[in-house]
Amino acid sequence: MCGIFGCIIKEGAAAPLIHQSLKRLEYRGYDSVGEATIHEGKLHIKKDSGKIDEVHKIRNLDDLPGNIGIGHTRWATHGAPLMVNAHPHVDCEGQIAVVHNGIVENFAELKLELEGKGHVFQSRTDTEVIAHLIEENLKNNPSLSLAEVVIETLRRIEGSYAIAVISPKEPDKIICARNESPLVVGLGENALYCASDIPAFLPLTNKAVIIEDGELVTLSLEGIEIRKIATSSLVMREPKIIDWTPEMAVKHGYPHFMLKEIHEQPVCLRNTLRLQEHYLDLMTTFLDRAREVFLVACGTSYHACLAASYMFSKLAFLVTYPVIASEFVEQHGKSVNIDSTILAVSQSGETADTLAAVNAARQRAATILGLTNVIGSTLTRVSRVYISQQSGPEIGVAATKTFTSQLAVLAQLALRLAKKRGKVSQDEMDFIEAKLKKLPEIVEAVVKNQEEKVKDIAKKYRDAKVFFFLGRGISTATAYEGRLKLMEIAYVPSIAFPAGESKHGPISLVEQGFPVIFICPKDETHKTVIGNIMEMKARGATIIAVIEEGDEEVKRLADDYVEIPKGVPDVLSPIPFVIPLQLLAYYMALERGYDPDKPRNLAKSVTVK
Ligand code: AGP
Repeated sequence: MCGIFGCIIKEGAAAPLIHQSLKRLEYRGYDSVGEATIHEGKLHIKKDSGKIDEVHKIRNLDDLPGNIGIGHTRWATHGAPLMVNAHPHVDCEGQIAVVHNGIVENFAELKLELEGKGHVFQSRTDTEVIAHLIEENLKNNPSLSLAEVVIETLRRIEGSYAIAVISPKEPDKIICARNESPLVVGLGENALYCASDIPAFLPLTNKAVIIEDGELVTLSLEGIEIRKIATSSLVMREPKIIDWTPEMAVKHGYPHFMLKEIHEQPVCLRNTLRLQEHYLDLMTTFLDRAREVFLVACGTSYHACLAASYMFSKLAFLVTYPVIASEFVEQHGKSVNIDSTILAVSQSGETADTLAAVNAARQRAATILGLTNVIGSTLTRVSRVYISQQSGPEIGVAATKTFTSQLAVLAQLALRLAKKRGKVSQDEMDFIEAKLKKLPEIVEAVVKNQEEKVKDIAKKYRDAKVFFFLGRGISTATAYEGRLKLMEIAYVPSIAFPAGESKHGPISLVEQGFPVIFICPKDETHKTVIGNIMEMKARGATIIAVIEEGDEEVKRLADDYVEIPKGVPDVLSPIPFVIPLQLLAYYMALERGYDPDKPRNLAKSVTVK
């Protein structure tokens, strides 16, 4: 997730305004920044890696001439956060500048095609192909306008984008367009703006035009023109008056980042499912030839590892050992060796316990693989191969969207490994891959259709003193994650363990009205979980169940339930089944008067051991 911005103003310099607007978009990405303006028929560009204030101090982002320009604050997905990879990106002649938020899925083939035509690339980003493709199309269609050429170009781009383009060839226009990545236009008195998000221009104007997928906009001081990229047909759209405060706007109207990020999960999952094949295949190769694989992480990331151990086992018949990072050296420090492979999972890529485990393993010549959300983090630097989950910055302290994205990456690895090892029939592979692609819609349906119900459940149980979270099989990982969320955000003492363990001790806690949350997908464990529900009910427990839609058997047994769309394969079930638990923690925190974004005693990234 990056932030793009563009403006054209009647009088004065565009650069300082771009700089201030990028600052308001910094929550969308902050590993590099850049601006481009047009003045006297020339492009002027400043960009570098680093946070906006750092780059401004070195390069003075305000010192660019011209009344029209674009800017970008980056969250790296393709190419490390280096100056060469910072946006704007330009064509060979330096006549077209592009900023982009999203993922060009077919950038590798486009890059090959363009290199074959003599284009020389500077960066390792997917975005740069857009600049060169516009250049190629402009060269082949000199009579077309910039807008028409950009339309031609976008018809060949697969994936998600919100782009802004300027060129001295039409120095009084900004061309912007979107597909899946957000884009809004601001209508000022003497200026026009385009941005990834409303906060960028809200202090300048509250008149906004929301741009829809597949639309291209031409901004000039005469006004805006919206066209459909597919047909070039004109689109008429009334501006909206935005009545958000700047604070609300940064949360896109949501009261808290945590809720915004829970709701963002479908978009994040779509981006995570656009991972670069090359890195997935490379990591699969390392996993396939490893003698032993440890999945090492902390907190929520550890729960993703726990779920992944079921995925790797059930799909690829690969035994993996999920290990809590702070215990890794004690548990396995002596046995790790050159034949060991460590897959470290860390959203921040900076968690001290995880890095300590990784360093201990490196010293014993183990192979290090990394799964993170932050390209350029320490974990990416110490990994032989790493994958970026592409979730965009997660501001809320509680991991939500990054958890489901981690699971989506791990599921793709398990599927590739299964294919490579020939352990699963083609039909089963096709079925699971098809379901994986549908997960964004499924998660969208859960958030949309079950949020109100979860809110009611939070209200009903707001005074409960403790909860059990129980599941079997892969749902054990979901149970652990639901428990962590409720503890860390709503401060409710909660206990999670495999449902089969109840009778080995914990059930002694159960008395009349004791709330037990069951994660109960209709998988192989369904029948046994029903037995566990009965044993809890027999002791007076109150049953709250997360079930598959229409599971009448559990509905009859549960006091409350939340439904997940049918047909999710067990290996993918933690992704939709965790959503109600994330929402429960959030609404329980509100019921208890706590700020879900700032839980006491916690930090977003635990960089101390
Ligand atoms: C999750 O809600 C917590 N914020 C915490 O457990 C977190 O998952 C853990 O500290 C690991 O962080 P990492 O993924 O950045 O390594």
